[in-house]
Amino acid sequence: MRFSPNVDVLKPSATLGFAARARALRAEGKSIMDLSAGEPAFRTPDFAAQAGIRAIEEGRTKYPPTPGIPELRSAIASYLAETTAHAPDDPGRIMVSAGVKQALFNCVYCLFGPEDEVLIPTPAWPSYETIVALAGATPVAVPTSWDTAFRVSVAELEGRRSDRTRGLIINSPSNPTGAVYSTELLSELAAWCGRHGVWLMSDEIYRRLSYTGVAAPSIYDVPDRPEEVILLDGVSKAFAMTGWRIGFADGPPDVIRKAADLQSQTTSAAAAPSQYAAAAALGQRAAREAAIGAFVEILDRNRRIGFELLSRVPALDVREPEAGMYLFARLRDGRPSAPVAEGLLEAGVACLPGEPFGSPGYLRFNFAVDEEVLSEGLARVARYLESA
Ligand SMILES: Cc1ncc(COP(=O)(O)O)c(C=O)c1O
Repeated sequence: MRFSPNVDVLKPSATLGFAARARALRAEGKSIMDLSAGEPAFRTPDFAAQAGIRAIEEGRTKYPPTPGIPELRSAIASYLAETTAHAPDDPGRIMVSAGVKQALFNCVYCLFGPEDEVLIPTPAWPSYETIVALAGATPVAVPTSWDTAFRVSVAELEGRRSDRTRGLIINSPSNPTGAVYSTELLSELAAWCGRHGVWLMSDEIYRRLSYTGVAAPSIYDVPDRPEEVILLDGVSKAFAMTGWRIGFADGPPDVIRKAADLQSQTTSAAAAPSQYAAAAALGQRAAREAAIGAFVEILDRNRRIGFELLSRVPALDVREPEAGMYLFARLRDGRPSAPVAEGLLEAGVACLPGEPFGSPGYLRFNFAVDEEVLSEGLARVARYLESA
């Protein structure tokens, strides 16, 4: 089959691919503990799900406005104002999309193209690279290291800057490393972007999953940031709403209008019932905070159990993540992780190798699963690595 050059750079999602293989093996009757997918194995909170169901029952199922229903755009603006120190609180800056993935795609596609370079600190969520490449721009990896807990520095960015650098995509708390950037670091990065005319895209999808007792900082905690900042977030992770497909971008209205115009020619809008569910999830403050609090409590327990189990595996180095949903472990002998992840799948546990994240030699384990799945999965990892 001959495809257009548009998709020469297309790589299918490695994370979704591994999860699909785990599902297929399970359908064949194999016992697989799935720690691969980037999604919480929990139910959507009832108050949010019911709002979606009510929208369907009441017939609110027509085309929604392209940038999102007013209720949700207002709820998002208020949510950001309630949970960060310096949010603009302006619904006109918000575009709702089918997940952060689409919101990011729309913004990247509208801002970057041939001749442009976009910096991506790695290890990073693999979709950043592919989305930037699909826009015709060049993704430029900025490698960060275990020794600096994977926090990118201005010096590292400066080392990869050229006169074509137009964007920087950051993700704190990080998938896959769990790295959290302090407000000071975010402030330095924002100032560096401002100095060099670089758009800063801050993917904060894991921000509320913090285990230190204090929230992970947002780019909207930085008071004197430049205009050229886009915050991306959604309901997939903190509300276990991956299948509802709701994410958003908050940025300068000109960019948001253009990104929504692009959306008007692709999906038209995110699904209406999902938007009503997300409006409840983000807009009902007391229920929202109770749901996130309960979820963080479960994840914190899993995080400790997972860390404890992996720390006892001699073949691995592991750190306790401060935030997010993943344990990120380094293979001590430095071998590539892709064959190890394949072997682990055969041994009945699905996890992700580091290669798609730009970090061969590492393994990523999702700990937002049932405790039994986590414990059994990591016991299988220990047994396999003892013998392999
Ligand atoms: C860093 C990061 N950003 C965005 C997403 C996608 O989120 P959504 O479900 O809102 O498209 C993921 C999902 O794994 C992620 O890990």
